[in-house]
Amino acid sequence: MTLGVPDVGAVASYYEDFGLRRVGDRPGRGLVLATAEGGEQLALRPSERRRLLEIGIGADDLDDLGRVEAGLRRLGVEFERGAGSLRVRDPNSALQVSVQVGPRITEAAAKQEPTNGPGRADRPNGRAPAIERVDRVRPRRLGHVVIGSLDQEASQRFFTEGLGFKVSDRVPGLASFMRCSADHHNLLVQQAPVNFLHHTAWEVDDVDEVGRGATAMLEGHPERHVWGLGRHHIGSNFFWYLKDPVGNFSEYYSDLDIILDDQLWKPSVVEGARGLYNWGPPPPPSFIQPEDLAALMTGSHAPKA
Ligand SMILES: [Fe+2]
Repeated sequence: MTLGVPDVGAVASYYEDFGLRRVGDRPGRGLVLATAEGGEQLALRPSERRRLLEIGIGADDLDDLGRVEAGLRRLGVEFERGAGSLRVRDPNSALQVSVQVGPRITEAAAKQEPTNGPGRADRPNGRAPAIERVDRVRPRRLGHVVIGSLDQEASQRFFTEGLGFKVSDRVPGLASFMRCSADHHNLLVQQAPVNFLHHTAWEVDDVDEVGRGATAMLEGHPERHVWGLGRHHIGSNFFWYLKDPVGNFSEYYSDLDIILDDQLWKPSVVEGARGLYNWGPPPPPSFIQPEDLAALMTGSHAPKA
């Protein structure tokens, strides 16, 4: 994905602290950072206000791309087709999407560490390996992106009927959790008064990495804290949200639901607080309504210089 930000240098340092690796300037893309297993997943470009400029979505093969093309035609959405790629703009959220044929991201299996429980000493005579970890937390990959759209239902149609995403769970009138992989969600579109990026989420090995990562980020930077530690109800993942220097939220997460067999997953409709979380501290108002939302709204209406 490509983020437009007012201060590329400060934002790049933040995501380096977050555990991404700085790759450097890539002509036409911007300043690029990489995850441990997802590769070059974040590009930063200068922009007057923070903006999600583009997301890239992988397709398995040309047949996939053909299905996307047919879906977009049915919706009457214009697109640009290349040899192994396709570029299109969601007319509702104004988000630029590039679909490209490429290999799937593969992740090495995380080690399963033994835990003790009542009546179950699976780790006798030893300390938890997690407390001995000293290496810095490195997100494996970008897992999902959450955006606000002026018309959530129309955006949902664009991503499902147009691009082939599947809906995993829904919060009626507010949000739909959509996937284009085995992850419970890769994209969430929320109803919002302005098109904006709410957060990006980066996968780490387990709940200890979520806690260790956030703790390290907050050292000397308490202003980065947004919300956590907690567990979501939708998607089941542990979460901790932090904030980059220009106001984008970034989430460490682990143990997200994985859907390998569509037939075995029953999408549900979730309402009330559970739409937000299962347990944890209550979300701060600024999580629901980011502090710069009014400024983003003003910015989006200001005449272009
Ligand atoms: Fe998330």
